[in-house]
Amino acid sequence: MTHTFVIFGASGDLTSRKLIPALYNLHVKKRLPAGTRIVGFSRTEFSHEAWRESLAESTAAFVGKRFDAAVWADFASRIFYHAGDIGDAAAFTALAEFLNQLEGEGRTSRVYYLSTAPRFYGPACEHLGTAGLAEESNGPRRVVIEKPFGTDLATARALNKTVHLSFAEHQVYRIDHYLGKETVQNLMVLRFANAIFEPIWNRNFIDHVQITVAEEVDVGSRAGYYDTAGVMRDMIQNHLMQLLMVTAMEPPARYAADPVRDEKVKVLLSVRSKTPEDIAHDTVRGQYEGYLQAKGVAPGSRTATFAAIKLGIDNWRWQGVPFYLRSGKAMSCRTTQIVIQFREPPHMLFDKGPRTMAGANRLVIQVQPAEGIQLHFQTKVPDAGMKMRQTDLDFNYGKEFKGQMPEAYERLLLDAIEGDASLFARADEVEAAWNICDPILSTWDQADAPPLHPYEPGYWGPTASSDWMAAQNRNWFDAC
Ligand code: BG6
Repeated sequence: MTHTFVIFGASGDLTSRKLIPALYNLHVKKRLPAGTRIVGFSRTEFSHEAWRESLAESTAAFVGKRFDAAVWADFASRIFYHAGDIGDAAAFTALAEFLNQLEGEGRTSRVYYLSTAPRFYGPACEHLGTAGLAEESNGPRRVVIEKPFGTDLATARALNKTVHLSFAEHQVYRIDHYLGKETVQNLMVLRFANAIFEPIWNRNFIDHVQITVAEEVDVGSRAGYYDTAGVMRDMIQNHLMQLLMVTAMEPPARYAADPVRDEKVKVLLSVRSKTPEDIAHDTVRGQYEGYLQAKGVAPGSRTATFAAIKLGIDNWRWQGVPFYLRSGKAMSCRTTQIVIQFREPPHMLFDKGPRTMAGANRLVIQVQPAEGIQLHFQTKVPDAGMKMRQTDLDFNYGKEFKGQMPEAYERLLLDAIEGDASLFARADEVEAAWNICDPILSTWDQADAPPLHPYEPGYWGPTASSDWMAAQNRNWFDAC
């Protein structure tokens, strides 16, 4: 069977910045199945050759030293282009003819990658269906849909309905690039391929969990989009919810798409729902100073660029263990980390001074950019009586496994081509995530909403966020 990877939105930024470099890297590593073709589709008229040339330039810039002109020439012979308007049903009939001619006889699997503006996701799926392009008699047909998947629960449900008019759920791959990160996948390996962590991964030993995705960059040139999304829609509904699910899920029955996703969804379904009063206590939001001056931001915008939220999970494993999720732009540094903060020992024999949670055991999973894991524990300071100090065992991906970490998209694109949906979000997962975020967003929209704290760029968000943790006798683990 041959494979065709069709990119809608071929002239867009994601295509040149992520998709083509990832496919090129897969080609370099000889992982792209033989007979894989890449077809670009967008409104701009290009010849096959002109599109290849423009991609050669952008790919060289994005893959750096890995770029090799001879390898590229071989890769480029797999690339084709077909111009068409995604809003026009007739363009899909023409595309179907083009693909049939290109592929010739024999079975072919196809991936349709929607790298377009989100408003086209629904119409593109409808047109694919009408043109017979979703029909699987000649091989699998899959559609990959980028985030954002809806802007709230109602729009996500409506989009799922539209997508399902043409594609069955097994054909739909909702992408969240965080699941393509090695360190996120390693979280499952850490938990389920080692005997020592899982027995203590619960309310009996863990005080709380912190999931931080801090970004040093501000909104840059994306303010037009960002101002309508904010940190909840841009990061928390998707990337942080994925990290939450992988951290808190039960072991799946098998490592396969549905057993994994069944367990992930259960986490979100167990998240305690919040009243507006809870939301006032359990969330802190902020906006960095200078955001209002960014081009594309509405005057007086109240969009949050920082949020910290506390969630409870009502199940046997996690009852009483708060999960703190925090994300923001224009923060101190770029870091994504999951902190498992263990309880203090029940009785302390040594160094009986005042104790804080900061001295208790802590497992820090560094998702990026310093990929690794640290276990913090108490050690006796030599020659100082029974004085103790916290030290750590430090595992670092870079040191342990020499070589570059692959880009998240490499793994995900290959999985889509090969038909493994384990690292893609299912319809119910996306809806359950919106179901958690919607009440927070609507409470924040009210006239008497909790305050939007200004914060100075370059720190860990508003001081209200650390005060809020301190009021709960806890501290953020702020480390770059
Ligand atoms: C994207 C968001 O989904 O993720 C961006 O839209 C954000 O605002 C980006 O910067 C972060 O991704 P990463 O992989 O750099 O952490």
